[in-house]
Amino acid sequence: MCGIVGYVGSATASERPLEVAIEGLRRLEYRGYDSAGVALVGPGGSLEVAKKAGKLANLVEELDARPLAAATVAIGHTRWATHGGPTDANAHPHVSGKVAVIHNGIVENFHVLKDALLADGVEFRSETDTEVVAHLLARAYDATKDLTTAMQQVARTLHGTFTLLAVHADAPDTVVGARHDSPLVVGLGDGENFLGSDVAAFISHTRDALELGQDQVVTITPTAVEVTTFAGEAAEGRHYTVDWDAAAAEKGGFRSFMDKEIHDQPQAVADTLLGRTDTRGRLVLDEIRIDESVLRAVDKIVVIACGTAAYAGQVAKYAIEHWCRVPVEVELAHEFRYRDPVVDERTLVVAVSQSGETMDTLMAVRHAREQGAKVLAIVNTHGSTIPRESDAVLYTHAGPEIAVASTKAFLAQITAAYLLGLYLAQLRGNKYADEVTEILDELRAMPEKIQQVLDRAGRVREIARWMADTQSVLFLGRHVGYPVAMEGALKLKELAYIHAEGFAAGELKHGPIALIEPGQPVFVVVPSPRGRDSLHSKVVSNIQEIRARGARTIVIAEDGDEAVRPFADEVFYVPQTPTLLAPLLAVVPLQVFACELATAKGLDVDQPRNLAKSVTVE
Ligand code: F6R
Repeated sequence: MCGIVGYVGSATASERPLEVAIEGLRRLEYRGYDSAGVALVGPGGSLEVAKKAGKLANLVEELDARPLAAATVAIGHTRWATHGGPTDANAHPHVSGKVAVIHNGIVENFHVLKDALLADGVEFRSETDTEVVAHLLARAYDATKDLTTAMQQVARTLHGTFTLLAVHADAPDTVVGARHDSPLVVGLGDGENFLGSDVAAFISHTRDALELGQDQVVTITPTAVEVTTFAGEAAEGRHYTVDWDAAAAEKGGFRSFMDKEIHDQPQAVADTLLGRTDTRGRLVLDEIRIDESVLRAVDKIVVIACGTAAYAGQVAKYAIEHWCRVPVEVELAHEFRYRDPVVDERTLVVAVSQSGETMDTLMAVRHAREQGAKVLAIVNTHGSTIPRESDAVLYTHAGPEIAVASTKAFLAQITAAYLLGLYLAQLRGNKYADEVTEILDELRAMPEKIQQVLDRAGRVREIARWMADTQSVLFLGRHVGYPVAMEGALKLKELAYIHAEGFAAGELKHGPIALIEPGQPVFVVVPSPRGRDSLHSKVVSNIQEIRARGARTIVIAEDGDEAVRPFADEVFYVPQTPTLLAPLLAVVPLQVFACELATAKGLDVDQPRNLAKSVTVE
């Protein structure tokens, strides 16, 4: 949550620092969009700030109306409000004397710190926790005359989560950052350097990045990057090259990032499968650095994740249990963390996260490791915290996901979890090599099939537009179709603000059928008739039951499944595929539906209200 960008460049003042900051904020706006602001420092001790409630466009308008002086240093912030509503006063940067600060996270002890500052006569201009940090930094700078030392001192007094960037009017060639349980990466330029919540902040300027460790302070000048601990000892970041470029983070002709990312899905799945086998066709997952003997001894797998990533875990459960004969539990990370889960050295915990920064998931990862479990992360974002704190990582290669609602990351997460399941089955001897190869071949056929679903999506869009005034939509599924139904409902809730619920179709008669009244739209995800027959026929019976009570049934079924036709008001056919892989296809019409319906309602599908892409607070 909150996007952060920092820049230092040439010693001669220019427009570049502001341009870099605004461009970075534009790319980071998906992280939070309640308000935005910048602070610029120029030679000669000028510190200027502009900030506005609302989207970045408001700030840009303000800057056009009241331009700031040319500068050598900039910091910029796009906010997702925690303490204090989204107002101009609460927008970042916060200023105290000659210091300006931006912050992502929550300072949990800010009340205590604020009381002490108030008692000293400090006046506050906002309701934020961040302003406390600005005052503390200004005081520490006055005492030390060094922004890095001041930041180290202040960081040691803060509890909670934070990424902080600070500038000082007397240091026109320096930005200092600090991170604790919140993301911050460095972009390495030529005669200029960058800081960002993620690499998107500076991707159009450099792909050379430095990953910072936990509890580190970084000081950037045009020609140097210095990393220290909060205690002031020298430390090092990890250098890496970003494997995607600025074009991947643009809309590429689509009307929204969400629409683009839905269409990126064949590529996301193909890229996630790429390079995972050796010359003999055996599955090799290079990034899994957990001893094979440990993986062989695993007697339980627990998947921890939130939201869409948790639904990916639920889909994977069916496949991993089937292939590996190991029990798989899927649990929301925040629930896992605050109960007393039974995990030990023989438990493999799989943490699934697009951003790699979700605080709920990170806390659960730490908890699992404390209990002795090995943690394997399935993550999309390189340089993020969860992989660094896990025992192993399996990266999804979905590329940058900018739209707040997850789409391509979901498909890539399922794909990666399937690779993990097959790898374990191979390692533990549950499957012969040729069986693994057969399933891998089926997986490799998926991108082409996903493309077919996208090519056929015109009718889904039409129906979505007709249904723009709908108040409530239900989704039913069974087996792997159940998490797909829940994901379809989540997409509709978050994008179109429509009441939507996903149910296990078998649960219908145990309560939810009472919701059915004439005209109630119900999506039904139907399993393949070529799979276990009882599954298919049971779902067809469910469709009949709700149809008999007046429901408007919209059915996702496999090509050739004529049995559903008589009971369906609409059928969207998807290509034939083995049951366990079907979610990779069945979810696509549901994503398209939610995106189109929300667009028809005139809503911003990339930045739905109240949400942020990366949930870095608990
Ligand atoms: C829904 C959505 C969220 C995320 C969840 C976890 O469309 O995007 O439910 O899936 O916040 O985020 P990550 O995967 O970054 O841990």
